[in-house]
Amino acid sequence: MKKIIALAGILALTVSCKTAQSSSGNSLKDAYKNKFYIGTAMDLPQIHGTDVKSDDIIRKHFSSVVAENCMKSMFIQPEEGKFFFDDADKFVAFGEKNKMFIIGHTLVWHSQLPKWFFIGKDGKEVSEEVLKQRMKSHISALVGRYKGRVKGYDVVNEAIMEDGSYRKSKFYEILGEEFIPLAFQFAQEADPNAELYYNDYNEWYPEKVKTVVKIVKNLKSRGIRIDGVGMQTHVGLDTPALQEYEKAITDYAAAGVKVNITEMEISPLPSPWGTSANVADKVAYDAKMNPYTKGLPQNVQTEWENRYLDFFNLFLKHQDKIRRVTLWGVTDNQSWKNDFPVKGRTDYPLLFDRNYQAKPVVDKIIDLTKSK
Ligand code: G3I
Repeated sequence: MKKIIALAGILALTVSCKTAQSSSGNSLKDAYKNKFYIGTAMDLPQIHGTDVKSDDIIRKHFSSVVAENCMKSMFIQPEEGKFFFDDADKFVAFGEKNKMFIIGHTLVWHSQLPKWFFIGKDGKEVSEEVLKQRMKSHISALVGRYKGRVKGYDVVNEAIMEDGSYRKSKFYEILGEEFIPLAFQFAQEADPNAELYYNDYNEWYPEKVKTVVKIVKNLKSRGIRIDGVGMQTHVGLDTPALQEYEKAITDYAAAGVKVNITEMEISPLPSPWGTSANVADKVAYDAKMNPYTKGLPQNVQTEWENRYLDFFNLFLKHQDKIRRVTLWGVTDNQSWKNDFPVKGRTDYPLLFDRNYQAKPVVDKIIDLTKSK
């Protein structure tokens, strides 16, 4: 009986390892070992180990992890002074156990923020001083808890608009532009060795690039640490133009920071408006906008693959400037893109399919490293 159970165990392990394989058996993280980290976002079933097949893929292919949601302020500090670290603890433990470069996402963001953050004890909007204090205690608690273990943080997320102006968030309304240097300062104090990043979507729009470069230079001139810019890469088949995206990479590098390609996925579905990743911008379901419910036609599949290869060729060309490329999830069925910008679609943006199989593009991305 014992023998049968052991045999079944070995069989299950073999099947589960096979799931994680690309058809060549090679892994992304090995191929890119001397180039840059290859990362993925992790959702709760992966963090809790209930999505075993995804975890096998993560262990095999990725050298860096970031929490998709559980480190955001509404989950970490749902009430003032009441912290919930259980999920984040498990996430960090997973990364450590598997010797991964662990990223914290995100410290200061206008979205997924608990309601109490801007409301004072008197029920009115908080003063500058109180908001600074709240930012400081939130950042110190989170960054301090994982000091030396989480290696880099998206300190400020999505604070600049496409035209280069500041987003009129409550942080901005109450503290003005200074909320960004303050956030970096507090993070630096909490863990002087953690890498600190500014992270945003559409960060290739020329006016946006200019403002982000200005922020980088301002922080550096004041002796406040900033190590990188995170270029969220929620992109489609047509936008952005690769030249515009490349110029952003070189502009950020010229400002003296590394570039992290963060939150990457390529949606082959039609988009109502381009590449915004602003979660507030959703539109109603429309069947015309959901054309591939039974799988991608071959021509679209090819176009989608080529787009991934174009991006990875670009990353390899600029490997001296790039610290990390992180995919925003593992398999298509888990992607936030199935509900954004149109709810309830069948999207195909990631590298692993709905059956936990590596798509053919994985081996092609691996092969690119042979010549570069
Ligand atoms: O936690 C609740 C749970 O209690 C409830 O039962 C469930 C029912 O819908 O919702 C859960 O919250 C969801 C949350 O993810 C955690 O799973 C929210 O509805 C859902 O809107 C939220 O979406 C996340 C989104 O950020 C929210 O801002 C996506 O998973 C996540 O991929 C996305 O990630 C952002 C980056 O952080 C920043 N850049 C853009 C990117 C895409 O929007």
